[in-house]
Amino acid sequence: MRKLIAGNWKMNGLTADIAEARAVAAGLAAAGGKADVMICPPATLIARLASALENGPVAIGGQDCHAEAAGAHTGDISAEMLADAGASAVIVGHSERRTDHNEDDATVRAKAEAAHRAGLLAIICVGETEEERLRGAAADVVTAQLSGSIPDGDPGRIVIAYEPVWAIGTGRTPTGDDIAEMHHHIHRHLCDRFGSAGEEIRILYGGSMKPSNAAEILAIAHVGGGLVGGASLKAKDFLAIVGAAGGL
Ligand code: PGA
Repeated sequence: MRKLIAGNWKMNGLTADIAEARAVAAGLAAAGGKADVMICPPATLIARLASALENGPVAIGGQDCHAEAAGAHTGDISAEMLADAGASAVIVGHSERRTDHNEDDATVRAKAEAAHRAGLLAIICVGETEEERLRGAAADVVTAQLSGSIPDGDPGRIVIAYEPVWAIGTGRTPTGDDIAEMHHHIHRHLCDRFGSAGEEIRILYGGSMKPSNAAEILAIAHVGGGLVGGASLKAKDFLAIVGAAGGL
């Protein structure tokens, strides 16, 4: 299975940073690799990155969308708008959205359905907090998030991102065994729900992935790629992670 390395720029990125995205595309085009590469910039840069990187090897994704296609929702952006701006995917249910905007599983599921309605790949994020892991509830928490957040249709346009909340932006990562165990658990859940189509759903790892740990994490069974925050902001680091996925 081809790995997917997706960069989540979060609330970072101004006009000057388009150069970083161009450098990523140039680094890939020079090498022609075996991984899929995506950048999810802030909404303000989607259209400009899409046109700067048009027909190149880097796909563009949004970081969130509203469940409805249009309407009176000041400040929100629909999946149709992301597609119209040039995105082919959208992250839904990131833990920062779940926390900052009180998004529950039903909301995340509605957003994933909106992504599919607009023809986008839905990157659905799940992951336990540190407190949940310490009391042994990590697998149950992730199971509940998967059950509640994944829509029924279209498993071919779903990617799951397992992001332990306590590993995001902290420099801390789970052990290889813990990642292997959780990715196996998620894989089984997807196979139980979607049958053979579930086998094909990529499960990204996210949370402090960086050039120094990417090769080790990406070699773990059922790790189908990475969702990369901080280390996606500089082309050099991001390309090093893409290289660890076989993408250079
Ligand atoms: P990080 O973020 O790589 O900075 O830990 C990952 C994410 O939140 O997607």
